[in-house]
Amino acid sequence: MSRSDSELELDDIQGIVLSGYGELPQAGFLMLAFGEPGRARDWVGEVAAGIESAAAGRPGGGYRLHLAFTWAGLEHLELSWQALKGFSREFREGIAGSPRRSRLLGDEGDSAPERWQWGGPAGATIHAVLMGYAATPEALDGLLADQRQALAAAGIEVVMALESRSLADGREHFGFRDGISQPKLAGVSASHDPRQLVAPGEFILGYPNARDQLTMRPLVDPIEDPDNLLPEVAEDSDLHDLGRNGSYLVFRQLGQDVHRFWSWLDAATPDRETRLALAARMVGRWPDGEPLVKAPERPAGEGTDNDFGYHHEDADGLKCPLGAHIRRTNPRDMLPPKPGTEDSLAINRRHRLLRRGRPYGPPLADSLAPDDLLAAGNDGGERGLHFLCLNADISRQFEFVQHTWAENANFAGLHADTDPLIGGRGEGRATFTVPGEPVRRRYHDLPRFVQVHGGAYFFVPGLRALRYL
Ligand code: HEM
Repeated sequence: MSRSDSELELDDIQGIVLSGYGELPQAGFLMLAFGEPGRARDWVGEVAAGIESAAAGRPGGGYRLHLAFTWAGLEHLELSWQALKGFSREFREGIAGSPRRSRLLGDEGDSAPERWQWGGPAGATIHAVLMGYAATPEALDGLLADQRQALAAAGIEVVMALESRSLADGREHFGFRDGISQPKLAGVSASHDPRQLVAPGEFILGYPNARDQLTMRPLVDPIEDPDNLLPEVAEDSDLHDLGRNGSYLVFRQLGQDVHRFWSWLDAATPDRETRLALAARMVGRWPDGEPLVKAPERPAGEGTDNDFGYHHEDADGLKCPLGAHIRRTNPRDMLPPKPGTEDSLAINRRHRLLRRGRPYGPPLADSLAPDDLLAAGNDGGERGLHFLCLNADISRQFEFVQHTWAENANFAGLHADTDPLIGGRGEGRATFTVPGEPVRRRYHDLPRFVQVHGGAYFFVPGLRALRYL
């Protein structure tokens, strides 16, 4: 049922799949529990009329609404057996569906699902998320107030309401510019760097995916990991009309301990310059977004360059450490067995994510400059990232990146490191290695800077499917 890239049905794909709505800094997420199925289906039909497609163009100063369902939500709507056929196992099981999945994602200890308190009753059943994006807080309030009225009239409960707000300069709470590197969809986005082009089927169901670009080459598992718990990947999804033009959405509320981050760095380094350099090495970019591969010593002011690989520029990680956050979550051309080749890039394309996350909670300091964040001390406030990403195969994309790359202590020949920003499995025991000549430097006892407070797997249907419900 694959169609070619040029036939991408933009008018049927929900706009959020192809745009992060940078010009709409306010976002609100209403987590919903349906009541009587017939009334809930009628509501879905009504709200679908207000959802813009990817063909709608830029939102300008307006607003956008989007809707996605959990598996429990789709089941609750009492759809036909055919409509529900073919959804992937991990989607049906849910992000916190089994101890095995939680272990795989590193959701243990304080990040374990039993402890999730992400703005509503712990363990509440979520059937859907209604996502609102607007230019101002007032516009978002107005949009969501109208939606709440319609929801109440349809007997649908808002089990929790979450808000995100883009921070100045596109920074996240640790003070780094985020959302720079995104895959570009072949046939849709222009990219002068072919390394960033990915088949639309990696994100939208029913189109050619990266495997189709690999026809002549066997797929080799990028990282040999004896502890690989990943479930079987169902490659040929049997999804029918409900799946067409849809995408899976991973939603994770990630609390960031900004004070812990900068005070640990302060204690680990002798001076301000080294502190900033170590923080940049953990991320793989300087706070202003410049990649270390391009400017290893200090930011050269070139900004948010994304046109680089690792193998030819920095195979040993002397510029950007092998275990840096961006090197783990998108290793680009450094994957075995043939790093630096098109094969390596082709394997990497199988594990890309379209990120749509935004920060939540007030910033720790008025300015997000590292010195100011360190000086601000600890206010005990709740803040972090609503990490959202879209993918066509949660197991092969999000779960793989989280488990086999971010949480893997042996990633790229390392021994006891996990992702210095989001790794959790090594709570208090993880190290961070900065390769160097003549000797490398290892930082010990990295605390966990990011805790998982909640999350769910959703499905973002195409607009025709929404109307059909
Ligand atoms: C890139 C921060 C969670 C995947 C980045 C960048 C920053 C950042 C500062 C560099 C900017 C950019 O390249 O766009 C954070 C923070 C997180 C977090 C503070 C948690 C609070 C995650 C998670 C994943 C992830 C959970 C996936 C499992 C990525 C990817 C990139 C990235 C794929 C782009 C890498 C590239 O293409 O070079 N992140 N991130 N991040 N992050 Fe995260």
